Amino acid sequence: MSDISENPYVRGIEHVTLAEDRRSVRILDQTQLPGREVYKDVSTPEACFDAIRKLEVRGAPCIGIFAGYAMVVLAQPYIDMNAVDFRVKMREIAAYLNSSRPTAVNLSWALGRMEAVIADHFNDGVPTILDCMARESLAIHEEDRAMCRRIAEYGLSLINDGDGILTHCNAGPLATSEYGTALGPILLGSEQGMSFHVFADETRPLLQGARLTAYELTKAGVDVTLICDNMASLVMKNGWVQACFVGCDRVAANGDFANKIGTSGVAVLARYYGIPFYTLGPTSTIDMSCATGDDIRIELRDPEEIRSLWYREAMALPETKCYNPAFDVTDHELVTAIVTDRGIVYPPFDVNLKKLFA
Ligand code: MRU
Repeated sequence: MSDISENPYVRGIEHVTLAEDRRSVRILDQTQLPGREVYKDVSTPEACFDAIRKLEVRGAPCIGIFAGYAMVVLAQPYIDMNAVDFRVKMREIAAYLNSSRPTAVNLSWALGRMEAVIADHFNDGVPTILDCMARESLAIHEEDRAMCRRIAEYGLSLINDGDGILTHCNAGPLATSEYGTALGPILLGSEQGMSFHVFADETRPLLQGARLTAYELTKAGVDVTLICDNMASLVMKNGWVQACFVGCDRVAANGDFANKIGTSGVAVLARYYGIPFYTLGPTSTIDMSCATGDDIRIELRDPEEIRSLWYREAMALPETKCYNPAFDVTDHELVTAIVTDRGIVYPPFDVNLKKLFA
């Protein structure tokens, strides 16, 4: 086994960082992976919006971390404003960033935390508010590291050495701060000398499974096999999958959850083949104000992602109608358990998720 503890992808590369002068956020542009590791500095509202919208930063927890840093950077030009005008300006900026992608709750959650800091320190003057915002943004990042580590530990208790695990999309270190959520148990177990066979759905249409999950696991020395999304049924039927681990973008109070489009299909297949199906996510991804999955807004994306984006020439006529939802909702009845940083939650989810926050 390769010495994966040496590998930065297991521990989490610093793929989102706040510049020391707080004038920009440095991101690893995930749209360029796996071919190129390109970092870019973003410092304007439009660049921050685009970074989220275009998936340069992506994955629910990572979007939240980025949003915290972005608020700090975008506040800097207003350091000389009075607190009243400053708060109005920051509300505008938060609303703008929040409109970049609707489904992952971590975005509005992190923006809400930053706005709460402004309210709490309103009378202390803008320079102090700015210092507190910077501290809060770093805390969001640090807390995510700790939550991912605990999710990895809980998740590891659900699998055995040698297991085959199927995952969909990317819920690894790149989607979070470190370890990831769905990939956390696999990376942690590998660090401890266990071995797993991971089947990574390529994840149409944006290929996060192929471009990011297979990349992260390969770099970490984990045995990963890339499959097209429509091959999941066969590998399950062959008996090669002992558990499904997927991430989540928003978990409703009844246990329904949104995740990358195609996740609900994996859950249906897992039920048919009697394979446990887990979603793993930090408590920051649970939205108790959302009663069921019907209340989750699903992002619709550009048809060109289906027609032409990945091909040398377009694979459909320009006039071909496309439907391109970025996420779907998995019904809680198909979920074996929700693995969080505060423990493993089993059905009935409406009762047990409430206990988690009690
Ligand atoms: O569109 P993306 O790439 O942001 O979608 C990401 C997912 O669906 C992940 O599974 C989810 O955000 C969980 S990340 C820990």
